[in-house]
Amino acid sequence: MSLPPLTVYLAAPRGFCAGVDRAIRIVEMALEKWGAPVFVRHEIVHNKYVVDALRAKGAVFVEELDECPEDRPVIFSAHGVPKSVPAEAVRRNMIHVDATCPLVTKVHNEAARHHTNGLQMIMVGHKGHPEVIGTMGQLPDGEVMLVETLADVATVQVRDPARLAMITQTTLSVDDTAEIAAALKARFPAINVPAKEDICYATTNRQEAVKVMAPKCDAILVVGAPNSSNSKRLVEVGSRAGCDYSQLVQRADEIDWRALQGIRTLGVTAGASAPEILIEEVIDAFRAHYDVTVELVVTAEERVEFKVPKVLREPA
Ligand code: F3S
Repeated sequence: MSLPPLTVYLAAPRGFCAGVDRAIRIVEMALEKWGAPVFVRHEIVHNKYVVDALRAKGAVFVEELDECPEDRPVIFSAHGVPKSVPAEAVRRNMIHVDATCPLVTKVHNEAARHHTNGLQMIMVGHKGHPEVIGTMGQLPDGEVMLVETLADVATVQVRDPARLAMITQTTLSVDDTAEIAAALKARFPAINVPAKEDICYATTNRQEAVKVMAPKCDAILVVGAPNSSNSKRLVEVGSRAGCDYSQLVQRADEIDWRALQGIRTLGVTAGASAPEILIEEVIDAFRAHYDVTVELVVTAEERVEFKVPKVLREPA
C-alpha cells in the first residue's frame, strides 16, 4: 500500500542558537579540563536530551550552589544567575565558570547602567523563569519590577514615572512584547525603552520563520522542552499566524498521531535548546506514516558565534 504524501516545511533557522552551543561547549571543555564530576547549577540549557548526554559524561546538575562541594568546578547555566551566586562561589573559593549567554549578560549590563543613572526598571518577562530571576538579581530588591501581561502594566507601582527604563527577557514573543512596550509608553511617557528590545536574534529569527511557514501548514510541530520559553513562544506564534494545530514535542514518541490525521502539510521547527538530532528523529517518525517531501523555509541566515570563557581556552 502506498503511503499518503506529506510536505514537511522545515524552518530555517531553527534549533540551537549561539548561546546554547557555547553553554554546552563550556560543560564539555570543563569536563575535559578538570575531569568528572563537574557541577552545573540548573539545567545548562532547557533540554532533557542535552542534559542527559552531559550527565553521562560526568556533569552533575543541581539547583543551588550549596549542593556543590567546594573542591569541584561549578558552571552557571546559559540563563544567567543573580549576582549573589558568583559572589558566593568566590566566598567559598570555588572554581566557577559562567555559561550565561552573552546576550543575557548584555541585558544585565544594561540594567546596571540604568541603575547607575538612577532609573528604576520595568522588566517584561515570565515570573519564575531562571533568566528573569538572574536579571532581577543583578540589582537590589525593588529596583526591577516585573510585568508579564498588559494587565500588569495597568497596575504596576513605580517610584518615579519620570525615572524609568524598560528591559526584557531575551526569549519573549516579539509581538506580545511590542504591545506591552507600547502600553508602558502610554502609561509612562518618559520611560526609557531600548531602540531594539532585548529579545535576542535567535528568538526573533525562529519566530519569523514560523510566521512565514504557518499559513501553508495544516499543523506545526515545535521540537522543544515544556520549560523552554522560546520553544513555547514558537507554538503560540504558529497558532496566531494561521496554523490551526501547533504542538510542542520533546521527542518523536510525543507526536499525537490522532490529532494529525489527514494532514497534507506539516511545519517543523525547534526551540533554541533543541538539538538537530531530535528534529531528524521527528521527521523520520513521519516517514513511517507518509511519503515525506522536505522543503526548507529559509527566512534568515545566522553566523553568530560566541567564544568560551578564557579559563577554558588556557591549558590546564
Ligand atoms: Fe542567548 Fe538567545 Fe540563545 S539569549 S542562549 S542566543 S535564545
